[in-house]
Amino acid sequence: MTNGLELEVSKRRTFAIISHPDAGKTTLTEKLLLFGGAIRLAGTVKGRKANKHATSDWMEIEKQRGISVTSSVMQFDYEGHRVNILDTPGHQDFSEDTYRTLTAADSAVMLIDSAKGVEAQTKKLFQVCRMRGIPIFTFINKLDREGRNPFELLEELENLLGIRSYPMNWPIGSGKQFCGVYDRQKTQVELFQGDDHKQITVRKVEGYTDPLVQEIAGNFFYDQLAQDLELLDVAGDPFDMEKVLSGELTPVFFGSAINNFGVQTFLENFLQLAPSPEPRNSSQGKIEPLDNNFSGYVFKIQANMNPAHRDRIAFLRIVSGKFERGMTVKHVREGKNIKLAQPQQFLAQDRDIVEDAFPGDIIGLFDPGIFRIGDSLSQKGDIVFEELPTFSPELFCKVSVKNALKYKQYQKGIDQLTEEGMIQLFTTIGFEDTIIGVVGQLQFEVFEYRMKNEYGVDVQLHRTNFQFARWITGDKVDPAKFRINSQLVKDKKGNFVALFENEYAMRTAMEKMPDAKFLETAP
Ligand code: G4P
Repeated sequence: MTNGLELEVSKRRTFAIISHPDAGKTTLTEKLLLFGGAIRLAGTVKGRKANKHATSDWMEIEKQRGISVTSSVMQFDYEGHRVNILDTPGHQDFSEDTYRTLTAADSAVMLIDSAKGVEAQTKKLFQVCRMRGIPIFTFINKLDREGRNPFELLEELENLLGIRSYPMNWPIGSGKQFCGVYDRQKTQVELFQGDDHKQITVRKVEGYTDPLVQEIAGNFFYDQLAQDLELLDVAGDPFDMEKVLSGELTPVFFGSAINNFGVQTFLENFLQLAPSPEPRNSSQGKIEPLDNNFSGYVFKIQANMNPAHRDRIAFLRIVSGKFERGMTVKHVREGKNIKLAQPQQFLAQDRDIVEDAFPGDIIGLFDPGIFRIGDSLSQKGDIVFEELPTFSPELFCKVSVKNALKYKQYQKGIDQLTEEGMIQLFTTIGFEDTIIGVVGQLQFEVFEYRMKNEYGVDVQLHRTNFQFARWITGDKVDPAKFRINSQLVKDKKGNFVALFENEYAMRTAMEKMPDAKFLETAP
């Protein structure tokens, strides 16, 4: 049994792609799926391409906006590996789901547009990965267009993100003349060719000074290439696998997803270097994937996958052991045993029943309302996985119910949607006003929509100017200190949280309370 489990675990790679909208995530994901011949698609890649792909447009709003509101999971096999890609909403209006999805990944691929460099959303997502210390692989995309100098981009990784980089390959030519890469580790030249560019000419060389490089790359590119590679050797960071695995050094690949340039090389290197499913911290210490007892945790709950059935699906990341359909496991928070009878991998319309699954895999569990984000399931022992951090929202609205007679339903809706993690709930001190916080504007619309459609309640949202929340610990908290461009509230657990309109207000509060800690995530 253990041997079988070991094999399954070693085959698996579970990762998320982090990027700013338009960097090419949909395109890259599609190319990766093509290489693999996707065996299971959960939702897709993006609503905009709905005509080409199965999508999880389960929600009207998603259709209207043409974007995917929720993250989904895709699985494919490639050369002996089983790959799980966790999709994260690529639109500007991303949500907390995006952050939580990252907790289910063992590594991340950071996709960067070579003309734009590190952009806002990439930065936020990067910070979440950094917090978890997972390995981050970088793909610099759109090399077929005139972009920025590769050195400048690497410098930006260091200056804006604080991560060192190791270019695994280096572009030969750029823009219309981008024709291949030099692989620094394998010391080979890879030239792209053929319509689908799966065909690459690979020529092993003795290093970049090998005359063969000049012959293959052509004189026109050679001087620049040799100069760049020399500079990298002299001034660049050495490759250090330990640093890669701890997320301190990012291997960088260059390519053009749309032309399929460099995607296969990237995939193959990535699969070699990226870790197989990692252990997770729990109340009982680290739980290793090779532990024979099945365990996992819910990192996301999606309501109304099928509007006809009003059901919810809990997404479970398997941490250890083998999952088998119909098995009985303990729902630790509830202290009850439950039978996992209808686990699903999703196809857009049809849901595919999973017979077995292994650490690193994500399965969907039918949820009649028994799961919460962060819930642990375990075959043996009361394992409680480390709670997923609650990140500071960035947009805040005061909420009220339009029809006071509907107060009960309103309260139920707010409670359930908070529990599901769709919004964060805060209550003002004294007046007990309700403020909800989210990380993307779309979440407000989804909230309004779901309150009306699922709970029959019209809500009124009043936008506030607050931009950050900080959880305050370590000192006596005095509401009087938060009067100007700030407000003191409590979160759903009763923790004190200060909301600020700007950095200045936050700094002022920090100066007034030198002994307090202002935390970016809930304690
Ligand atoms: P996203 O999911 O990160 O938002 O990006 P998406 O893949 O949708 O790509 C955004 C745009 O960038 C698309 O163009 C896409 O074709 C283009 N793109 C992706 N990879 C490359 C690349 O390697 N080189 C170049 N030149 N373009 C690339 P669009 O015009 O917005 O959409 P479409 O009409 O092509 O679908």
